[in-house]
Amino acid sequence: MSQFGEQIAIREGARLSQELLTHYPESGGELAAMWAPPGTGKTSLLVTIAGRVAYFDNAKKRLMKETVVWKGREEDNWHLIQGKKICVHVFFGDDISFLDTSGNPIEVETLRYNTGYEIAQNLKRGWVNIVYEPRHYSMDEELLEEIMESQFLDTRPKRIPGAFFIYEVIYFIKKNKNPDEFVTVIIDEADHILRLNAKNPQRHFQDWFRDSIVRDLRKTKMSFLIAFHDSRTVDWTIIEKIMMRIYLKAALIPKDSELRMRRSSVKPGHYMIEKYGRFGIAKYDKIDTNNMVIAR
Ligand SMILES: Nc1ncnc2c1ncn2[C@@H]1O[C@H](COP(=O)(O)OP(=O)(O)O)[C@@H](O)[C@H]1O
Ligand SMILES: [Mg+2]
Repeated sequence: MSQFGEQIAIREGARLSQELLTHYPESGGELAAMWAPPGTGKTSLLVTIAGRVAYFDNAKKRLMKETVVWKGREEDNWHLIQGKKICVHVFFGDDISFLDTSGNPIEVETLRYNTGYEIAQNLKRGWVNIVYEPRHYSMDEELLEEIMESQFLDTRPKRIPGAFFIYEVIYFIKKNKNPDEFVTVIIDEADHILRLNAKNPQRHFQDWFRDSIVRDLRKTKMSFLIAFHDSRTVDWTIIEKIMMRIYLKAALIPKDSELRMRRSSVKPGHYMIEKYGRFGIAKYDKIDTNNMVIAR
């Protein structure tokens, strides 16, 4: 890239990153998808973003820390999030400990829930809320009925993968949150809830999620950020609704993207970002993701 082109890319990258990180009542939430092969820095970037997302409060006339919902994984890095308080939501019947890699417990405030609805009620405002799905999940009846109706399903699915609990949490937050409140949902390694050619009932859940949830999340002041390894394995009908894209090193970039020609310029610690034909490049800090929290 020419020096001039690079300056423009850095400036536009900073602007787009601002749109990802800072939400305004007029523009609503932001939907973003990030993909790149393992080990390229996705989780690090998500950790950085979780600590920084903010919204502008029109009444107070200032930026406020935005509430984050983070889907917890067995091996995760949420304890490295800086700048916000962190709590975990754990199902009443489950006994989960959070340990560092040497087996020492990690101190974290734990909230118990019975239902996805309760998580929505108990969200800590301005905090990062880590959500661990129940070990044995059965979907909320009200939600299941809504999905069955909208998807013309006659028979009740026998078993619903626990990973879909996050859909339930998003559904209840969207439905019950205060209309002025902003919430960002972050899902790392989202491949398994956006599977390409998913079989039923998963197919129906994904279709419902796309048509009933993703479509108007932004308007309800919710943001949604997902990361996955390989865009060839995910449900593209959902990704298509997500206009902001973030690519790290060695990401497969769609043919129609302006960034495809520039992919060799993404170095470790940088990302390319685009939205509706605008595109740029930006930097972020290194995080030691070998420093893990283990949930078991
Ligand atoms: N901004 C950065 N600059 C340099 N190295 C980074 C940066 N972010 C992450 N890394 C390193 O890259 C490796 C993989 O990061 P990670 O976030 O776990 O990747 P992924 O989630 O894509 O597998 C880690 O060793 C991490 O320290
Ligand atoms: Mg990762």
